[in-house]
This record gives sequence, C-alpha cells and structure tokens, in this order.
Amino acid sequence: MKNQIKIESRIRPFSNQIEVSSDKSLSIRCILLSSIAAGKSKIFNLLESEDVINSLKALKKIGVNYRRKKDHIEIHGVGINGFDIKNKTVINAGNSGTLARCIIGLCSATKKKIKLIGDKSLSRRDFSRVIKPLNMFGVKIKSKKNLLPLEIYGSNLLRPINYEENKGSAQVKTCIILSAINTPGVTKIKALHSRNHTELLLKYLNYPIKIKKKKLYDIIEVEGLNQFNSFEYKIPGDISSASFFIILTLLSKNSELLIKNINLNPSRIGILKILKKMNANIKILNKKNYRGEFIGNIKIKSTKNFKSINCPSSLNSSAIDEFLLIFLVAAKSKGVSKFKNLDELNKKESPRLNIAIDFLRMIGVKIKRVENDITIFGNPKLDPGGKYHIKKFLKDHRVFMMSVTAALTLNGKFTINDKDSIKTSFPNFLKILRNMGAKIN
Ligand code: S3P
Repeated sequence: MKNQIKIESRIRPFSNQIEVSSDKSLSIRCILLSSIAAGKSKIFNLLESEDVINSLKALKKIGVNYRRKKDHIEIHGVGINGFDIKNKTVINAGNSGTLARCIIGLCSATKKKIKLIGDKSLSRRDFSRVIKPLNMFGVKIKSKKNLLPLEIYGSNLLRPINYEENKGSAQVKTCIILSAINTPGVTKIKALHSRNHTELLLKYLNYPIKIKKKKLYDIIEVEGLNQFNSFEYKIPGDISSASFFIILTLLSKNSELLIKNINLNPSRIGILKILKKMNANIKILNKKNYRGEFIGNIKIKSTKNFKSINCPSSLNSSAIDEFLLIFLVAAKSKGVSKFKNLDELNKKESPRLNIAIDFLRMIGVKIKRVENDITIFGNPKLDPGGKYHIKKFLKDHRVFMMSVTAALTLNGKFTINDKDSIKTSFPNFLKILRNMGAKIN
C-alpha cells in the first residue's frame, strides 16, 4: 500500500546532529497576528506543513495577501478590523484545531457570515470551548452540537468579557485574546497555565497586555483596539517534533543526538521535566532569549535505567502533545508510573489516550485505567517481538510518529498506515530518520 510503511528492525546506534521542523504554534500565531498588524511583516523559517498552509489560505479568504520570498514570507497586514470578507466565505481549517479555534477569535468583529469547516478528525472535536466565550463578546455562532461546520456571525458591537479558562487550553486562551483585540475596553481572562506564545508575541509588539502569574493560572488583561506595527520573526524548531527524536535516542543503544535551535519556552518543556525526573540523559545547551522565547540546543544520550514517575498533573498542559512518547519511556522503566487527569488527551486529533492504551497493550505493556488516570507497569526488558499493524487512528500525525519511534526502538515487525499524516506538522520526519540510518520501507 502506498500510504503505509514497514519497520522490521531497530535503528542502529547513531551519533548525529539534526534540526527539526519549525514550531507549529508560533508559525500559526505569527500568521494570524501579522494579518492585523499595520504594514508588511516578514516571517522567516515558517513551518511548511498542511496546518500552516491552511492558515495562509484562510488569510486569503479574509482579504489578507501574502507573498513567498526567497527566505521568508511577507504578510500584508490590514490592521485591526480591516478584513475584506466576501459573501459566502468558507474557511477550511483542515486538520488544525489551533487554526480553527483561533481564526474565529480573529474574525469576531466581521459582519459577513463565515462558514468554518475541517477534515474528519477536526469535525469530531468540540467547539463549545470557544463558542461560549465568543457568545459573551457578542458573536453569534450556529452549529449542530458544537461541532463543525460552524456559521459565524461577527459583530461590530463587541463587549469586553471576564472569563475563566479552566481547561489549560492555549487555543481557547488565544481565541479570547484575539477577540479581545477587536473589542473596545479591557477583557480579563483567568487562564490555567498553558503555552503562552500569543502573550509573548503581543508583549514583543508592545501591545497593551498585562499578565499576572499565579501558581496555577495567569490573570491576563487585554486592552482592545490598539493598533500595532508589522514585525519580523524567525521561527525556532518545535519541541513537539524534537520529542520523537529525544525518545528515539533515549531508548536506542549507544547513541547520541544534538537537536539544534529548539523553542524551550517553559510552558512547552513538560516532557523534558518529566524525563529528567525519570533519569533521562538530556542537557540543554546555548540557551538564549529571542523576543521573549527561550531557544537552545538539546543534547541527548541513550539511557538505560529509567525510573518510574508519579507525574504531577500540573505538568499536563506543558507536555500535552508529548504524552504518547512519555508513556513509551514509562513502559520501559523500572517500577510503576502514574499519570492523572488526562481527559484533554482524548480531545486531540484522535482520542489519543484510548489509542495510546490500545497501542501499549498490543505490545505487551500492562496498564490500569480508571477514568482518565492511568497506571503503567514498567518493564525494562520489554521486547514484544511479533507482528503489529497500526491502523485506524484518524490519520493522527502524532500517533503515526510515536508508532514509528516505538517500532525503531523495539523488537518486532511493524506496519504503520497513513504515512501522509506527517504533512500536518513534520513533513521531513521520515527523511531525517532515514538519514540517521533507520530502515523504513
Ligand atoms: C496548541 C495548543 C494545544 C496543543 C495543540 C497546539 C496551540 O491544544 O495540543 O497541538 O498552538 O495553541 P489545546 O489548546 O487544545 O490544549
């Protein structure tokens, strides 16, 4: 089958230096914010993936032009509330929850109806989390059961809101911040900690946004209708994409890897904190501040004696896209690991908690599940052997890449469907692996 790969042997010991694809969250945010900046912004190192291409296509639909230049993309910002939207506009967010949720906030003040659609995976994801705060701003949204397709009727009489975001969702937080920019007055959000790229970008742009950090949440105040200038930004590498290679190296024998130029924003490095507690041999080198973000290199060496972990759920949001990989390490560690309150995992591109449990059980890992808490009984000698076929995961890019990572570090013959899913976030994934010596047919 064309869209299928086979892995029948572990990757041989390696010593490499790589770069991974650019940060997806920052790429989409830079595109959306530059659309309402005054003048032309230049984005360097933009991720070239389907989620980002869909974000650029969405800009065209709302009357924002862009040009691809030799080493950057130039986005012609139209200013706050400057979109030119035609009747019967349909925006297709494809697979991207981030684009879908954030673009509604960006367009909250537009008077033309917008229809928002997406692929099969996005069409099963819940939008009530953004519909509720947007309704409070004065935006009307029609849907069946809070699922796509949505019909969005923005308003030119938006009013600021006070909102408590209690899922730890950066998509929801960003949606509200973008709508607050369109709204006169001050919008106040009490948000459980989640990735804060939008806030850092706005701070860098001197936008009037105030953030008070508390232990579990932030109080964010956004003063609406303040025009900001166009900007230049160079997107660093994505820690979520680097994570497949971190785990690959840790679980392989006699190997080491340097991953360069990765965004190490504290709200994204839950995986590194969790792995450190589990005894992983990982070092951060050359850490620098770039426009409020921390960027550096990650040096990883094979690790033999992983310790189990009782993972504090305060780390959930900062590792939300990496749990599938963390579970693989827990499966190979000595002792019993516990992870709690993972309900958000089932609300991703596929029901990732269910899928991870099925995957781990399939390769012989003992797991106990009580609602959304799981206990993994680790086995350092885990060696499944046998033949496995990974299919039916809603073409979720992260499930595909986790399966490849597992297949390259375990004994067994793996067939994995839906290779094309990597186009969502990391089109070069298999190419980099092959360059490192992985045998993937
Ligand atoms: C993202 C936020 C997270 C994450 C997603 C990207 C973002 O989703 O899982 O891959 O860029 O804001 P939630 O906000 O739903 O937690």
